[in-house]
Amino acid sequence: MGVQMFNHRGPEFAALQGRLTEGLKKVFQTKNDLYILTTSGTGGMEAAVVNFFSPGDHILSVTIGVFGDRFASIAEKFGAKVTRVKAELGKAADPAAVRDALKTNPDVKGVLVTHNETSTGVTNDLEAIAREVKAAGKLLVVDAVSSLGSLNLPVDAWKCDVVVSGSQKGWMVPPGLAMVSVSAEAWAANAKAAMSRFYFDLGQAKQYAARNQTPWTPAISIMVALDVSLKMIEKEGIQQVFARHQRVADKTRKGLRDLGLSLLADPKNASNTVTAAKLPDGVKGEELLKVLRDEHDVVLGEGQGPLTGKIIRVGHLGWVPDEDIEGVFAALRKALPKVGFVPAGVK
Ligand SMILES: Cc1ncc(COP(=O)(O)O)c(C=O)c1O
Repeated sequence: MGVQMFNHRGPEFAALQGRLTEGLKKVFQTKNDLYILTTSGTGGMEAAVVNFFSPGDHILSVTIGVFGDRFASIAEKFGAKVTRVKAELGKAADPAAVRDALKTNPDVKGVLVTHNETSTGVTNDLEAIAREVKAAGKLLVVDAVSSLGSLNLPVDAWKCDVVVSGSQKGWMVPPGLAMVSVSAEAWAANAKAAMSRFYFDLGQAKQYAARNQTPWTPAISIMVALDVSLKMIEKEGIQQVFARHQRVADKTRKGLRDLGLSLLADPKNASNTVTAAKLPDGVKGEELLKVLRDEHDVVLGEGQGPLTGKIIRVGHLGWVPDEDIEGVFAALRKALPKVGFVPAGVK
């Protein structure tokens, strides 16, 4: 990232964007168009809504946590009529509930769904949900911010129309980029979509992409970093990357349970990128996270929204080797007794 800055209208940048787009398409497992936007994941989500819908459109939003709720709120802010399909926190969405909601709401134009809900550590069965959405002939818009690059998401095979990811997650680089893939069906919807947009106008991105440029000045340094991390992913092999995430996630879940903590996620849909553990009775999350950070240099996530003060979250996506996870267990063994909980096996 420390390379001498170069002109985003010049040949080095065009070559970089071309390489990144092709590399990302391989991991997205898609031949669809793909754009790199300079924004965070939420900006990518906004782009995925405002380019394909009009005010007044009826949208189904499958939400199982904070990020699903955010997707629904974005659509509402831009004037859509949103019907939510919800699941209990810690559970995945039921594909049959999506099917029923589509049957009772035939005027729905599209469905928003979170692949991996980072606030609860649950991965939705996107393949099954996608089958229902596409059988009903609706546009499928996916938040894959904390899944793509870590979990298998074959965009074309599952017929996902618009898929969003974010650089700071499985892609192993700093925050600042969102990636968005767009199917032919989504482009057809775009031709009629009237929601307001300017910075996030993917029509502009498409025009500039023809010469491997972006309409606005991009975060070149992060793109340089992504050039390196995509090579790492390619070298390891995408299937091996998925298998490593599975292995490290299994280790995380087992280690937390061995300490006597119970996990939030339904084991059938536990995420391979983030694990939420319930705080034992009487333990204050803030205090535990402070001891971990100040005394052990271990930074874990807190609960969000309704789970604030109820869980802690361990991220294990991207470059998280086994030793990092072992470090989390070692730190928890020492920190938990200080905040009122004696873990299993600690005297
Ligand atoms: C599933 C999911 N969606 C959306 C976002 C929002 O991304 P950002 O914070 O980069 O705007 C996040 C961030 O953690 C996320 O995990």
